[in-house]
Amino acid sequence: MNSKTIFPASLGGSVNVPGDKSISQRVAMLASLAEGTSKVTGYLNGEDARSTLSAMEQMGATAEFRDGALFITGVAGQLRPPAEPLNMGNSGTGARLLAGLVAGAGFEATMIGDESLSSRPMGRIRNPLELMGAHIGLTGKRGTLPMVICGGKLQGTGYLLPMASAQVKSCVLLAGLYAEGKTTVVEPRPTRDHTEKLFQALDIPIQINGLEISIEGFGAAGPRFKARDFVIPGDFSSAAFWIVAIAARPGAELLLEHVGLNPRRTALLDVLKRMGADIEVTVAEAKGDPYGTIKVRGAQLTGTVIEGDEIPNLIDEIPILSVAAALADGPTDIRDAAELRVKESDRIAEMVKNLRRFGVEVEEKDDGMVVTGPATLKTPAGAIDSHDDHRIAMSVAILNTFSTGAIQIENVGCVDTSYPEFWQHMERLGGKVESL
Ligand code: S3P
Repeated sequence: MNSKTIFPASLGGSVNVPGDKSISQRVAMLASLAEGTSKVTGYLNGEDARSTLSAMEQMGATAEFRDGALFITGVAGQLRPPAEPLNMGNSGTGARLLAGLVAGAGFEATMIGDESLSSRPMGRIRNPLELMGAHIGLTGKRGTLPMVICGGKLQGTGYLLPMASAQVKSCVLLAGLYAEGKTTVVEPRPTRDHTEKLFQALDIPIQINGLEISIEGFGAAGPRFKARDFVIPGDFSSAAFWIVAIAARPGAELLLEHVGLNPRRTALLDVLKRMGADIEVTVAEAKGDPYGTIKVRGAQLTGTVIEGDEIPNLIDEIPILSVAAALADGPTDIRDAAELRVKESDRIAEMVKNLRRFGVEVEEKDDGMVVTGPATLKTPAGAIDSHDDHRIAMSVAILNTFSTGAIQIENVGCVDTSYPEFWQHMERLGGKVESL
């Protein structure tokens, strides 16, 4: 079932999106390092979260799904070398964050991944990890996987991140857990802070001073902290597909509950409101990552400019935002988003190509695109290929609900990395999907 046919439809109603991918992966790593057993509710049942958990099991943690929750028993800081390569599948977050832990744990391990992950840049984590004393061999053609990590006795360091990347920041902070002395990272722009929030929830000593984050290392013996229970909110990046599907559809309504509302993830809401969307958010009081309810009522949107500090806080939402832009009145200018070119696919090139096939006016830029709407959508001749990028597959599916004919999307298996229930949820909201 690696292709789906999507029909035009009018969507609306209510769904519960699955658990946050970024938080699930970090919880798997930290609960696996803790002393004792953590009960995790809402863990994402997607491939990226599963590959991260399996890697932690290969290094000594135990994990069991029981009574609707995941129970992870940690190794009290003492990871053991994996007998087989760690297969991170499609997950850049899994690969980059785990490389930091393995570097600190002080043994040698090999990391592999699928074709998409094996084409993504890993030099960005090699540099800081080698500065701290590890050796990172990138045996792929262009600084890519397979990666051989030779951990060592790490020294704390100061590292100015060359790009706004929560993955690189988190990699260095996780390595910093095992370093002698203090590790400091400085970000060029604020990125998602789930790692920092989880460190705080686990009483791991971390200092945050604006864009500068420091951690006092535990040394080569490894971090010691106690297990605790975690409740993972719904993934805002998954919710984003329905938010746009409704916000750009005058007359439609949507209710989403228990969705993660970390302000470093929700810039999409600010942008859509600026475009004229009718969105109401209620934040529940929460220690750690905030969550809450989102109500959306559809409207005719207008174009806007998206750039600068907003970009890292909606980086995964840009493909679906370009769909909103195609339906909005006037130009939408997306800038400063060159990082999109090194995601699961080159998301600038893929969305530009796909939007054009629907008859949308788009100009491609090195670091973004200018989309001018509102487009009168035409049905593309032939199938659309996701190029194994889950967010491209889901964005194109949403776009076609606004169209007038059916389209076929090929290679949709990748949707299971972050949102296995996506197609069912589309049907629940009134969409029509056929599997081929
Ligand atoms: C993620 C950070 C982002 C994002 C990715 C998940 C994370 O990547 O695109 O989907 O969990 O830290 P970068 O930080 O490399 O931009």
